[in-house]
Amino acid sequence: MVKLKIGASILDANFLHLKEQIDAVVGDVDEIHLDVMDGVFVDNISFGPSIISQVRAAYPEAFLDTHLMISRPDAMWRHFQTAGSDVVTFHYEMTPHTYIICKEMHDAGIQAGVSVTPATDVAVLEPVTEYIDRVLTLTVEPGFGGQAFIPAMLRKIERARKLFGDDVDIQVDGGIKNTTIVDAKNAGANVFVLGSYFFKAEDPRERVLEIRDLLGA
Ligand code: DX5
Ligand code: ZN
Repeated sequence: MVKLKIGASILDANFLHLKEQIDAVVGDVDEIHLDVMDGVFVDNISFGPSIISQVRAAYPEAFLDTHLMISRPDAMWRHFQTAGSDVVTFHYEMTPHTYIICKEMHDAGIQAGVSVTPATDVAVLEPVTEYIDRVLTLTVEPGFGGQAFIPAMLRKIERARKLFGDDVDIQVDGGIKNTTIVDAKNAGANVFVLGSYFFKAEDPRERVLEIRDLLGA
């Protein structure tokens, strides 16, 4: 059985109190999810490698999951490796070179993740699974936290699990909360990113424990 993992996305955290916010969840989640946006692929701009380096320095033991929503992942991913990411996930839609980027990431000693927006079929990744550690199926249009989970993505998650088997992490991101996470798990996802559900809450840790309980993880 694949390991169930919970990631906390800091996109909707209070950046004036970022350390406090991460402190509240870091001991009870499996990953810290870092959403990088450049205003080209999505209509939003977030943060870059220097923030990730600071998170790495403050949390040397944390597993850092960087989700690149940027236009030149081929040119940029190494900066995020240097910053301390354990896995870097980039969008299939932003490059014709998925295979070679994933291979280079492996050669560089980090995990490779490939992400698809809701309209892109996961089957496009099937020919290049050799170096893919995780497939991220966006369950909202990427760009912002706090959006509603798209129910049609459940069939896509099922397909992803069938196509890639149990050696690849199937990650879901967008609209994951207490009312959607069990469906996503039952469809075959094993890595769950939650942003606003944790960081818009008064007590993020309480929410993490609730989610852990719901997953039985
Ligand atoms: C969306 C980002 C997500 C975002 C999720 O483009 O990739 O990681 O933070 O936020 P919620 O959990 O609020 O949908
Ligand atoms: Zn994300």
